[in-house]
Amino acid sequence: MRNKLTIKNIIHPFKKKINVSSDKSLSIRCILLASIALGKSKIFNLLDSEDVNSTLQAVKKMGVTYKKKKNFIELYGVGINGFKVKKNTVIDAGNSGTLARCILGLCSSLDGKIKLIGDASLSRRDFSRVIKPLNLFGVNINSHNKMLPINLEGTNLLRPINYFENKGSAQVKSCIIFSALNTPGLTKIKAKKSRDHTELLLKHLNYPIKIKKNKNFEFISIKGLEQFKSFNYKVPGDISSASFFIILTLMAKNSELIIKDININPSRIGILKILKKMKANISVINRRTYKGELIGDIKVKSTKYLKSINCPENLNSAAIDEFLLIFLIAGTKSKGISSFSNLAELNKKESPRLDIAIKFLRMIGIKVKQKKNHIKIFGNPKLKLSGKYYIKKFFKDHRVFMMSVIAALTLNGKWTIEDRDSIKTSFPNFLTILKSLGAEFK
Ligand code: S3P
Repeated sequence: MRNKLTIKNIIHPFKKKINVSSDKSLSIRCILLASIALGKSKIFNLLDSEDVNSTLQAVKKMGVTYKKKKNFIELYGVGINGFKVKKNTVIDAGNSGTLARCILGLCSSLDGKIKLIGDASLSRRDFSRVIKPLNLFGVNINSHNKMLPINLEGTNLLRPINYFENKGSAQVKSCIIFSALNTPGLTKIKAKKSRDHTELLLKHLNYPIKIKKNKNFEFISIKGLEQFKSFNYKVPGDISSASFFIILTLMAKNSELIIKDININPSRIGILKILKKMKANISVINRRTYKGELIGDIKVKSTKYLKSINCPENLNSAAIDEFLLIFLIAGTKSKGISSFSNLAELNKKESPRLDIAIKFLRMIGIKVKQKKNHIKIFGNPKLKLSGKYYIKKFFKDHRVFMMSVIAALTLNGKWTIEDRDSIKTSFPNFLTILKSLGAEFK
């Protein structure tokens, strides 16, 4: 298959119900927690993607076995402190920051050493954020400038820590929680709010973890070294994957979409809150709870004009993976100036997404003013493109690829977008679903 995608026509109106791929964050966490549970867990609807596959390969190297069945995967957990590694074990986290950060925490008490590597995108990302708390636990880590490759040697002399996580990073928080499970005594974390799937799952499994929250912070205390039983879990749909179709529908003409069975955990729905403030025609129906998580169907209709937004900073973490799409719609559908602040974390993703988004918007003729990590986007809902657009050099970032496809299918112009393979990390059936809505591309 060609690794470039060409799009020459915008999408025709559509009215459909769809499912998108399963939640990546939950899929990875289910595997990691099942691997240290006692006994056989069954995970249904696990995301079938490269990041999840890297996670399965990683736990296999720790001595965990699994069987892929037709509708689920059976994973045989080895219990806390049950990992066994061979000499010279290399773990390849591929493109996955979540796996890389979490596995380091999970390996804090390992009787042995591992070397952690990743692809070119992951190898340029910062690991000081997890090296610092892991060093406080007593773990021995050597790295290349606080980046991959990382060598970790576990210890059975871990000590519990009190830690303030101030970036709003769920990967860092989860890494600390995983290490706390291996550590005797009580670990306490004060964390700027971020997605909370790890702690919700542990709570659901009756693990001795306490969670308190106020407006901006979460306070977690975890008692280490308590074993927990295996579990069954059905992974819901991913709000981050659904978001591409939400924005497609809002930007397309006369279209309507229902996206079924999506995880609408409050720590993930920044995009829905932002779109509501922008007066988009969007709602959640059939709300229900499942094992500590909230699930719902998202109903969305094309909206002619949106309002601009002064985005409250406390939505940044809950919308962190959706800002490329939010910027696109603010630039092309809203009247007025939208502002976003303190987006430093956005440049620390699979690609420097803030820089890339600004270049992208300017390329299609949208005015953007930037002051460090704050931006103002001057909306132009009359924008209609006609030129040729070539999207390349974006570190194969799956979300940049998919956002560019949504722009191409709604704004006219002739587009060539490189690295279609990038979707394999999180949303392999993205293009198939688009086709089912009538999108044309080669
Ligand atoms: C994730 C957390 C977020 C997010 C990433 C997945 C997770 O990263 O951007 O795609 O599953 O924990 P940070 O926690 O570093 O913000």
